[in-house]
Amino acid sequence: MAGKDHYYNKAKQEGYRSRAAYKLKQLDQLENVIDGGDTVVDLGAAPGGWLEVAAEAVGPNGNVIGVDFQRIKDFDDHDNVETLRGDMTEDKTRDRVVDAAGGPVDVVVSDMAPNMSGEYSLDQARSLHLARQAFETALELLDSGGDFVVKVFEGPDVDDFRADVEEEFQYVRATSPEASRDESSEVYFIGKGRLTAPVRSGDELEVEIESVGSEGDGIASVEGYRLFVSDTDEGETVTVRVEDVKPNFGFAQRIDEE
Ligand SMILES: C[S@@+](CC[C@H](N)C(=O)[O-])C[C@H]1O[C@@H](n2cnc3c(N)ncnc32)[C@H](O)[C@@H]1O
Repeated sequence: MAGKDHYYNKAKQEGYRSRAAYKLKQLDQLENVIDGGDTVVDLGAAPGGWLEVAAEAVGPNGNVIGVDFQRIKDFDDHDNVETLRGDMTEDKTRDRVVDAAGGPVDVVVSDMAPNMSGEYSLDQARSLHLARQAFETALELLDSGGDFVVKVFEGPDVDDFRADVEEEFQYVRATSPEASRDESSEVYFIGKGRLTAPVRSGDELEVEIESVGSEGDGIASVEGYRLFVSDTDEGETVTVRVEDVKPNFGFAQRIDEE
C-alpha cells in the first residue's frame, strides 16, 4: 500500500503510535540523549511515538512532558507521561510547560512540523520558526549539561540557526536518521551539553587564581564558574584566553606572559 513502509509496519508490529518513534530511537543511539531518571520535554508530541520512546528510556524514575495543539490520547502503559494541549508559538503555552516541568529539565526534544502548504519555501520558513520557538523553550528549561534535539527543514537561514544553537551547547551534531523518509528534507540538530557558563571560548579576561587543583592547574572563579589555568600560582591575577568551555568548568590559557 502506498506510504506504508518498513518503519510504518515496524511501528504497527511493535505497538508504537507513529513511525517517528524510530527517529528518536536512532537519534538517542547516536548521541545518548536520554538517560534513566531524566525529565524530558517533547514539543509537537502528537500522536505520541516519541513520548513512548522517551518514557521507556527514562524508566520509572523519570518523567516525560508532551505538548501539542492536537490532542494526545492517554497512555495506558506509561504513568510517567503528562500531556498538555497548546500552541508552542504562544507564550502562555510555554509558561504552562515551564510550570509542568517544575524546574530545570535534562532534555528538550522537538519534532514540530508545520501543516504542509505544498509550497516548500513557505513550509521551510514555518519549520524554522517552530525550531526557533523550540530553541527558546530549551534555553528556558534546560539544566546545565542538558541536551536538545530539534527538527528543521533544510533551507535558507538554517546555518544561522545552527550557529546560534552552537553558541549555547558544547557541540551540535546534524543528522538525518535512517527512519526519516528518503525524500525528506528534514534534518535534526542535536545540541549536547547546555552551556550556562558566563564565558565562551575565545573570551579574554582578567582573573584571580584562588587555588591550585590536584593536577597543578590554577583555579579561578568567574561568577561561580571554575576556570582551570595552567602555569599559575595561588594569589596571582592573570589575563587569560578561554580555550574550552564545558557545562561545569572550563580551561583557559594565560596570555600575559611571553
Ligand atoms: C511530525 S509530528 C510529531 C510526531 C511525534 N514526534 C510522534 O512521534 O508521534 C509534528 C507535530 O507538531 C505539532 N505542531 C506543529 N506546530 C505546533 C505548535 N505551534 N505547537 C504545538 N505543536 C505543534 C503538530 O500538531 C504535529 O502533531
